[in-house]
Amino acid sequence: MILRDAVRVLVANWDGSHTVPSRRLYPHQWSWDSAFTAIGNARWSPRRARTELLSLFGAQWRDGRVPHIVFNPAVPEGAYFPGPEFWQAHAPSGSATSGIVQPPVHALAAWKTYLAEPDTAFLHRIYPRLVAQQEFLRAARRSPEGLVSIVHPWESGMDNSPAWDLPLQAVRPAAAGFVRRDLATVSADERPTDRDYERYVSLAAAYRDSGYRGPGEFQIECPLFNAAYGLAEATLAEIAGVLGLDPAPHEREAAAITAAMVEHLFDGELFQARDVRTGLLIHSASTAGLTPLLLPGLPRDVAGALIATALDRFGLKDGALPSYSPAAPEFDPARYWRGPSWINLTWLVWQGLRDRRPDLAALVADGITAAVAHAGFREYFDPFALSGHGCRDFSWSAALILDVVAEHGLHGLPASGREVGQEAGGVGEADQVGHHVLA
Ligand code: SER
Repeated sequence: MILRDAVRVLVANWDGSHTVPSRRLYPHQWSWDSAFTAIGNARWSPRRARTELLSLFGAQWRDGRVPHIVFNPAVPEGAYFPGPEFWQAHAPSGSATSGIVQPPVHALAAWKTYLAEPDTAFLHRIYPRLVAQQEFLRAARRSPEGLVSIVHPWESGMDNSPAWDLPLQAVRPAAAGFVRRDLATVSADERPTDRDYERYVSLAAAYRDSGYRGPGEFQIECPLFNAAYGLAEATLAEIAGVLGLDPAPHEREAAAITAAMVEHLFDGELFQARDVRTGLLIHSASTAGLTPLLLPGLPRDVAGALIATALDRFGLKDGALPSYSPAAPEFDPARYWRGPSWINLTWLVWQGLRDRRPDLAALVADGITAAVAHAGFREYFDPFALSGHGCRDFSWSAALILDVVAEHGLHGLPASGREVGQEAGGVGEADQVGHHVLA
């Protein structure tokens, strides 16, 4: 059944201290993947969730940044591009890493891990590291408007979102001369284009060559990244409370980022990204613009406007939530972040709706379970056909289903849909736990 199969995927993707997002396509540790995976693992093995987060933060840099990839030295260089030879970066722990970051959803993951099994020693260990992660963003990435910026589309987590098309036009493409490894696993029409990759490589090389100081030719305030940053502060306030520390500085920072986002990124219907170099909003129809629903202090009228937009332009009630509005001409139902439904993004919107609109949150949760029941633990899904795309046995798709089912149950699934068409791995540990998650 779906829960046991989800745990099988997570067990098969476990590398002893972390979970690979996918054995072939992403064979190392990724930052925000680890956070989402921990949220799911917390439902059946909080110990594994704690280990995952602590291993990621074990590769934190001295300046507080948490690199978006921590490379496994046992995996050959050629297995992933760009690998450690490209990034030429090491954490103080000695691990080879990338030098860019990803949305800081880790405080939320640490908190959910703690709620699953209250382990104060874990919170004590992780809290200063989570604070340092936020301090890096304030010190290195904050604009006078009070928003934090990303310096690469990979930092948004939504690599080829149409929202980045315009700022990427200004980036000089790298000369070809690198070999993409992703296309060995996934069909080219479901991945970013070669043109996109030439620009990703050029931007990453320039940032590396600046000593990872930047900012370079791409400097964007992304609504998802800022929402994650603000939610992290709100969550750190909770954690500080448990640890007997003062939550007020975190509460103030969460309120400040929320106000700055409403002032500078909200267009009346949706939150937009802003190009720091031009000072202009980049008008797009990215689902990233709905994620400020996560901010506990978002004004009610703003949340109401976002929900109306989600219903009108994103088909919020109609099943799987797309990553880009199907009403927009750039929408593509199968190409990576240009339209397919992703479980993690949908999960974030679900979190943002649960207190505000439980009725809609329930429909979003049903959409998540229906997609996985239909196509398995795929990386992304056509939001209409529910066909699976990208890699198979993708960790956060498996992990977050465990969290959704634990909160929401298996409602909305046809009885036949409770079997997932995954190949059984026959992993003993997995067999014991499906039932534990449901209990
Ligand atoms: N998401 C990127 C990739 O596709 C890198 O983080 O490899």
